[in-house]
Amino acid sequence: MIEHFNACVTAEGLDTEGRVMDCHALDLPDDAFDVTGSLFGVMLVPDQPQALREIVRVTKPGGRVLLIAYGNPAEFEALHVFISQHRRWSPSSRGRRRTSRCSSSRSPTRTSCGSG
Ligand SMILES: C[S@@+](CC[C@H](N)C(=O)[O-])C[C@H]1O[C@@H](n2cnc3c(N)ncnc32)[C@H](O)[C@@H]1O
Repeated sequence: MIEHFNACVTAEGLDTEGRVMDCHALDLPDDAFDVTGSLFGVMLVPDQPQALREIVRVTKPGGRVLLIAYGNPAEFEALHVFISQHRRWSPSSRGRRRTSRCSSSRSPTRTSCGSG
């Protein structure tokens, strides 16, 4: 994903880069960005408060933090609507007992998605 991002920004001639790092300890200075965000990322990590502290730390005072996340898949109605419609219209998924490729304990931080 990061390699693809870097290839795209290079092709576009943009002055930016993607790097891999642990969101609990970002290798970035304080107050570095006007806008920061997480797309379905912070919701999956073990220490969400620490990840959120790091996002805030690297965001300039007065900047914006955008978070896109959902909680427990078992309680995510839109996901179940999507899956039920997929099963209805996709012949390959008919008759399978599994209703979701995602499973979760009661804790959102222990959510996992499988490939089977
Ligand atoms: C559901 S994916 C979302 C990826 C991307 N934001 C998107 O929407 O396509 C969650 C991502 O979080 C990354 N991730 C998991 N633990 C992480 C951590 N401790 N620090 C940084 N990234 C992490 C995973 O490698 C994965 O790429």
